[in-house]
Amino acid sequence: MQKMSYFCPLLFVCVDVCVVHAIRLTQLSPLLHPHPFITLWGGGLLRAWLLLILIFNYPGSPPWMSSFKGLQTLAVLCFHYPAYISLLWALGQPALEELWGWHSWQRLLQSYGVTVVAWLYWSQYVSSLFKRKTSGGSKENTGASLKRLMGYMLPFSRRFVVVIAFVVLSSYGEMAFPQYTGRISEWITNEEESGAFTNAIITMTLLTIASAVLEFLCDLTYNVTMSRVHTAVQGLVFQAVIKQDIAFFDSIPTGDMVSRVTTDTNKTSESLSEELSLLMWYMARLSFLFIFMVKQSWKISLLTCMGLPIVWVIPKLTGYFHQVIAVKVQDSLAKANQVATETFSCIKTVRSFANEDGETERYRQKLDDTYALNKREAAAYAASTWANSMSSLALKVCILYYGGTLVTSGTVSSGDLVSFVLYELQFASAIEAVMRYYPEVKKAIGASEKIFEYMDRKPEIPPDGTLAPENLMGHIQFKNVTFTYTGRNEKDNPVLKDVSLEIKPGQITALVGLNASGKTTCVKLLERFYQPQKGQILLDGKPLNSYKDEYLRTKISVVSQDCVLFARSVRENIKYGCESMSDDEMHRAARLASAHTFITTDLSDGYETDVGQSGAQVSGGQKQRIAIARALIRRPKILVLDNATSDLDAETEYQVQQALLNDTNHCSVLLISHKGVEKANHIVVLNEGMVHEEGSHDELLRKGGLYADLVRKQNQAFHGKQDDKRDAH
Ligand SMILES: Nc1ncnc2c1ncn2[C@@H]1O[C@H](COP(=O)(O)OP(=O)(O)OP(=O)(O)O)[C@@H](O)[C@H]1O
Ligand SMILES: [Mg+2]
Repeated sequence: MQKMSYFCPLLFVCVDVCVVHAIRLTQLSPLLHPHPFITLWGGGLLRAWLLLILIFNYPGSPPWMSSFKGLQTLAVLCFHYPAYISLLWALGQPALEELWGWHSWQRLLQSYGVTVVAWLYWSQYVSSLFKRKTSGGSKENTGASLKRLMGYMLPFSRRFVVVIAFVVLSSYGEMAFPQYTGRISEWITNEEESGAFTNAIITMTLLTIASAVLEFLCDLTYNVTMSRVHTAVQGLVFQAVIKQDIAFFDSIPTGDMVSRVTTDTNKTSESLSEELSLLMWYMARLSFLFIFMVKQSWKISLLTCMGLPIVWVIPKLTGYFHQVIAVKVQDSLAKANQVATETFSCIKTVRSFANEDGETERYRQKLDDTYALNKREAAAYAASTWANSMSSLALKVCILYYGGTLVTSGTVSSGDLVSFVLYELQFASAIEAVMRYYPEVKKAIGASEKIFEYMDRKPEIPPDGTLAPENLMGHIQFKNVTFTYTGRNEKDNPVLKDVSLEIKPGQITALVGLNASGKTTCVKLLERFYQPQKGQILLDGKPLNSYKDEYLRTKISVVSQDCVLFARSVRENIKYGCESMSDDEMHRAARLASAHTFITTDLSDGYETDVGQSGAQVSGGQKQRIAIARALIRRPKILVLDNATSDLDAETEYQVQQALLNDTNHCSVLLISHKGVEKANHIVVLNEGMVHEEGSHDELLRKGGLYADLVRKQNQAFHGKQDDKRDAH
């Protein structure tokens, strides 16, 4: 089957050659002699018809031959010559000689060459443009994104008009060098017009300098403007992301979010400031170069346009191997990096198993693999560079050869040829640049789609309330609250089921229960991070949602289970969100949290000490105490401590609790802890998202339910530990 598919094109060429020669014989007929154009087009039609019969009737003809692209190629093969001759005739050029000559071997080979070039043009460039136009969705999106990006640039529209004017003028100025070089070389060879010679050099120099100055001004204006646009967009994206609901943050990995705000916006703005500006330059340059090339000689321009696709395709084909190997090199490097990352991140394990040499060997092996691939990559790169320069050299030789014949025949002057060659050099690199930067700019606009996705996302939070009473009692009621996290399976049990509980003003209410019983979820609902699906939460008898968001944040302070400190000083961490608070207030809060002493004595710079990334430079217990101080500095009306003292030693925990109990008479406390809740006025026991039992410590112990069980097991564990210690001694 494979053989058949090669056989058919071969057969196709043989038939074509026979048909052309048969037509040649019929041309000799005296009947056709007086009608050269009818013979020309008739011959083309006959050739096309016979070949079509072969394509559609020969059973082994491959499908691509009868596809739209195949038929187009056939049309080019059969009709380009008649079209070319007719065009020459229409332009008043001598065409009669060519009229009868299309059957010669030279012309036949040329016709195949032209067909191949046309096919390359179509498959490499035209069809991809066509595809882009038809692939509606992404095109529409890209268009919409471009429109929005333009919207951000609109306030600077005057600057952009200036930039475009600079681009056009400077590109025009660049044409001076090739133009005048051509003229000068002509005058040198003819040894004439020495005055004009000096004038030409002066004009050329002035124009080139003017062009360079304009280019500098343009780059400066454009880049400054684009950095302003970039800063504005990045700020807006950050603002849009930070305002999203907590469920959004739960569902999107932090890395993705950061990459949208930083990498994507950077990529977009970098591409728009660098690549778009270059694209504009090269487009303007390309237009002027093409106009000037056609002005010098349209024939050599045509040859250039035909030759360029071949020049680009050859390195593309050789470059393909290079790309394949380059990808393998990247993979292999990534594997080596993986070994290094894994080793360094697990260095303690590596060392405790004394496997440093083993890991070094593993890393070296990966590097050896990379080296082997690197050698192949270097060879492929050299081959592709060689093919690149060879193909462009071939085109230049062709242009010079053809240009030389035109100069000899007197069609163009030698100066024109020199100018043309200089234009062509710039033209080829300009087209290459346009082809390189256009996809980059498109990609950048594509990246902006992602950014806009975030900016357009409406956070799923109810509208902000209006209440902000001066006096708040701090009375909280959960009334039949049922809640499931979005994203959890529908079939999953709700995390909270019909929970009703009360936190009375000025009292300590404890929430206890096994892991995953829904304690932290209650806190998150209280903080309005999520909305309950059923039931409601009341604050002083009014729905929580009717309060102003900012007001609630000042009245409810939460020290969460996984409290996070920012990589800033202790002072900045405690005063986080209320920077205007006095140092006295900060010290008071720190004392209550039993943090003041260790901050002033243990930390090197006291309150100015940097706590490191996520508070890594302080101990777990110190971190918790700073977090408690951060919550207390606001003098909240409702204080929530969600396992906030879990990392404190017994003595410090006792100190903190005592201080809190003494100081928090004025505020409602929700204490979530697995131990030490005896002092709470009221204890609510959650089990599998439901309120299992409630009452005071003594009541619950008497009841002998889940709470009593928990306390008993805790005591057993404690005594167990004591016994173990004694045994050890
Ligand atoms: N953001 C979330 N998305 C989906 N499910 C969650 C989310 N947070 C918690 N859950 C689930 O909700 C349930 C209750 O979690 P919650 O954190 O409220 O438990 P908890 O009582 O505080 O437990 P612990 O004592 O371990 O702190 C768990 O099954 C948990 O897996
Ligand atoms: Mg919890």
